[in-house]
Amino acid sequence: MTETFQFNLTASDGKARRGAVSMPRGTIRTPAFMPVGTVGTVKAMYLDQVKELGADIILGNTYHLMLRPGPERVARLGGLHDLIRWQGPILTDSGGFQVMSLSGLRKLDEQGVTFKSHVDGALHHMSPERSIEIQGMLDSDIQMQLDECIRLPAEPREIERAMEMSLRWAERCKTAFGNQPGKAMFGIVQGGDNPALRIKSAQALAGLDLKGYAVGGLAVGEPQAVMLDMLDTTCPELPFEKPRYLMGVGTPDDILKSVARGIDMFDCVMPTRSGRHGLAFTRRGRVNLRNARHAEDMRPLDEQSTCPAARDYSRAYLHHLVRANESLGGMLLTWNNLSYYQDLMAGIRKAIEEGRYADFMAETQEEWARGDL
Ligand code: GUN
Repeated sequence: MTETFQFNLTASDGKARRGAVSMPRGTIRTPAFMPVGTVGTVKAMYLDQVKELGADIILGNTYHLMLRPGPERVARLGGLHDLIRWQGPILTDSGGFQVMSLSGLRKLDEQGVTFKSHVDGALHHMSPERSIEIQGMLDSDIQMQLDECIRLPAEPREIERAMEMSLRWAERCKTAFGNQPGKAMFGIVQGGDNPALRIKSAQALAGLDLKGYAVGGLAVGEPQAVMLDMLDTTCPELPFEKPRYLMGVGTPDDILKSVARGIDMFDCVMPTRSGRHGLAFTRRGRVNLRNARHAEDMRPLDEQSTCPAARDYSRAYLHHLVRANESLGGMLLTWNNLSYYQDLMAGIRKAIEEGRYADFMAETQEEWARGDL
């Protein structure tokens, strides 16, 4: 365990990187997938289970937690880690992205964002400084700058305006965060689908000498090829020796291809949310348990899996639970999906160490293409 925030690269294979982020609350093996714990819970999972599956860090959301239970209350209760019973590192998103997607009425300008709570309709204001202050009260280990994420497609001038403002907000967040040796504040590259704006954003953020860098504003409606192009453009501009986090991504295929381009960290609601909607990720691709073909199928999802949800329960039972809207259906499929994602990350890390990442990627994609068992 270290007193300071550090990132060490231990192996690479092409542009794919194997490393470790070390900080007082623990070490994050990279490439890493961070399960999303928006309101202080990874939905339908016990955090002991999440840890056991191999997650080294989870994500929380400033927007949700500031509205309920409120940062001052979380601080009085001893911080987020003790409250939710997760002693490993926590990364918090800054709130800008969630305000745009969830709150009602909102107004965004240089000062920050004013918005109406989706919980009780109350008006709130969040500046870059307030976002960092709230993330501090939550005792978050990796804090994100406040930014503005534009949905695509968008006009180039609109993309540029949001990117430039996000840069100014990054500086304000850096000042507000100050010097906290065991913690980190990450900047967020914006610039939509415009390579020149992406490069400008990445270079300017690199100049701020932050402890880590996220790539934001992707998986917001553009084709996968555009996202990958943006990574090809952006990653070479980011400092080689700092962690790179692709926000809100993605499918297992997005993850494989993004690691190949130099991304170290990911988060996405996909395994948890789609699990609650009856979708299972498996080594042979996606399986929709709502489908009637599973109704009398006594086989498990995947008898070779190490996860009891995949190995020990019949498809017929999972189908019944999903169709009957039973909580256990969402619990078992979330368990299966997070297990699949963490096993995928473990496979990715091992393949990079052994210098066979391209082969691992091809073999994994071939298995998905063969279709369900
Ligand atoms: N989550 C997914 N994309 C983004 C983004 O661009 N900014 C922030 N803050 N969070 C995100």
